[in-house]
Amino acid sequence: MSPPDLLFSQGFGTRRICAGLVQQGLVKIDTGSGLQLVDEDLDITPLEGMSYEVQGVLWQFHTKAYILLNKPAGTECSHKPSVWPSVYSLLPAPLRQRPAKTGLQGVQAVGRLDQDTTGILLLSDDGQFIHRMSSPKHHVPKLYELTTSDALDDKVCQKLLAGVVLNDDPQPVKAAACEQVGTHQLHLTLTEGKYHQVKRMLGAVGHKVVGLHRSRIGGLVLPADVLPGQWRWLGQGDLSALA
Ligand code: URA
Repeated sequence: MSPPDLLFSQGFGTRRICAGLVQQGLVKIDTGSGLQLVDEDLDITPLEGMSYEVQGVLWQFHTKAYILLNKPAGTECSHKPSVWPSVYSLLPAPLRQRPAKTGLQGVQAVGRLDQDTTGILLLSDDGQFIHRMSSPKHHVPKLYELTTSDALDDKVCQKLLAGVVLNDDPQPVKAAACEQVGTHQLHLTLTEGKYHQVKRMLGAVGHKVVGLHRSRIGGLVLPADVLPGQWRWLGQGDLSALA
């Protein structure tokens, strides 16, 4: 693979732009002996995690992108947000521009969180991964930490674990786990991802959610050092924890 092809695969723009970056001496690649300026026609076999630099910014090569974002409140999980800024605006351009053979360009969110929900959001350009993580068949547990406007009644977990009926489906939905951690706070684990599921489930038992944070997906806990609005690559260990 030539350096322009490598940059193209990682989302640095059209092949012409990528060739221009290399020709202008703005690209260094570590093919084994440290970061070095490269020629346009060098032949590279990029390894997962290989370092390279574009316009002074250090990157790692990733065949597929798996990203964790700590979603801040007041952002929409949509490419065309209606009111709030898009979560995609928190990511650097190459992640949004990675070429796709089919479907949409760049990384896509795995499911959606509401505008006012905070916490762990996964994004990827691996269609199979997105499908696996979001499919209700796979039952990936997600932990939500929520706050209600009024004090919770002490049967709330019992009711949510037994199942409640939401307005769009007669089939009851059940919490996979539930723990009351304060007068107004619950930790709720769900394995499906229905529209506004947490808020609607709490609504069904007479409570209004005023704060919602997703702190874990599968075995992957939102890392404390990824602050709201920040993102990081997921490594092999993180991906295994998700499965
Ligand atoms: N359930 C909700 O009601 N909102 C979210 O953002 C996620 C789960």
